[in-house]
Amino acid sequence: MAILKIARMGHPVLLQRAEPVVDPTDPEIQRLINDMAETMLDAQGIGLAAPQVHVPLRLFVWRNGPGVSALINPELTLLDPVEDVGWEGCLSIPGLRAAIRRSHRIGFRGLDAEGQEVEGEAEGLAARVMQHETDHLDGILYTMRLHDPRLFGFVEEMSRAERDVPKEKPDGSA
Ligand code: NI
Repeated sequence: MAILKIARMGHPVLLQRAEPVVDPTDPEIQRLINDMAETMLDAQGIGLAAPQVHVPLRLFVWRNGPGVSALINPELTLLDPVEDVGWEGCLSIPGLRAAIRRSHRIGFRGLDAEGQEVEGEAEGLAARVMQHETDHLDGILYTMRLHDPRLFGFVEEMSRAERDVPKEKPDGSA
């Protein structure tokens, strides 16, 4: 396994629409998933999409409880209005946080790391992470979803000002 370099905001790979994975059982895809999981854990993130490691393919990994899950070619359905406001960070936008509106509950489907079809529902933080990661696959960063630019800034400054923002990375960046 290897720790991959994470693209930061400004790199064009973060702005393009990623391509579907054709063969999820390809050993190259398996290696990518393993490396992405290691990279995410090393960076103390809670989610990581392939374009963030310079690979424009539709897959992401995320912290699913104590483990790490992968979702390949994900399709999300928003089951609630986009009105749940929460703080988000992004490994491609280090040190910053913003309050972003997401759907509280989603339906998801796609393929898991073994290439098996999976579907289910998620809510709260898990739903937020999956929406954030799927956005990455469409070239969308959270900064494009700011509804109030005043709720966007450096974590360090916000924490100092005692604003209600997660202080530890595992609560935020994805
Ligand atoms: Ni992100």
